[in-house]
Amino acid sequence: MEKGFGAGQIELKHYAESVFRPVDSSLGRIAQSIATSGLPQIQVGPMDGRHLEVLARALSPQIVVEIGTLGGYSGLCLMRGIRPGGQFHGFEKSAAHAELTRQNLLAAQVQEKLAVEVHITEGEALTELAKWPKDRRVDLVFIDADKVSYSAYLDWAAQHLRVGGVVLGDNTFGWGDVVRVPQLTGQAKDTVGALDQFNRRLAADPRFVSTIWPTAEGLTMGVKIRD
Ligand SMILES: C[S@@+](CC[C@H](N)C(=O)[O-])C[C@H]1O[C@@H](n2cnc3c(N)ncnc32)[C@H](O)[C@@H]1O
Repeated sequence: MEKGFGAGQIELKHYAESVFRPVDSSLGRIAQSIATSGLPQIQVGPMDGRHLEVLARALSPQIVVEIGTLGGYSGLCLMRGIRPGGQFHGFEKSAAHAELTRQNLLAAQVQEKLAVEVHITEGEALTELAKWPKDRRVDLVFIDADKVSYSAYLDWAAQHLRVGGVVLGDNTFGWGDVVRVPQLTGQAKDTVGALDQFNRRLAADPRFVSTIWPTAEGLTMGVKIRD
């Protein structure tokens, strides 16, 4: 029998959230701050945040880069896995989003409790990432900003990840439309087409072994196996 991913049952989401309880008080405060600040509530979902935390804790990275921070929700999930003395570098285009991320991570006492250095850089991610020192290797890159740039972010990650490092890209099911790109038009075609290209490029890149985790949004993950 052919089995579909996740079966699309909302009861499964409710089940997972009630059993694994992925939102604690710090994450709840960040989600609340995004809502009350009037920012779009487009942070990762509760279970997706937990997936990121579990992955990060398993990898125990030293340097993590997040592209697209919004208010710091996924950032906090990732930071919980960074080893003490490590660094989190968030890149965010919107001044308001970058400022809320800084405030939220300060309130979560990340530097004190986790001994993780936090650097939030405001501006176009591709412009700012181009300033990253060529020899400073990264352990984990989480891509969650403008979809049309995902392939360019992948190029940056492939260059800067150490062997054994991991790249993650969110929303890679393209809201279910990644299977019908030829029928899409306009902005949807550009956005979802870019996600399809990202998946196909990573899948075909001999420097990576990759997969797409069947989360609600699709989470593409590649581990770098060679330079
Ligand atoms: C989906 S939200 C990120 C959510 C966040 N990762 C979380 O789950 O908590 C996408 C973010 O990417 C930012 N963004 C969009 N285009 C960008 C760009 N070219 N460079 C940097 N940030 C960008 C947006 O301002 C927005 O805050």
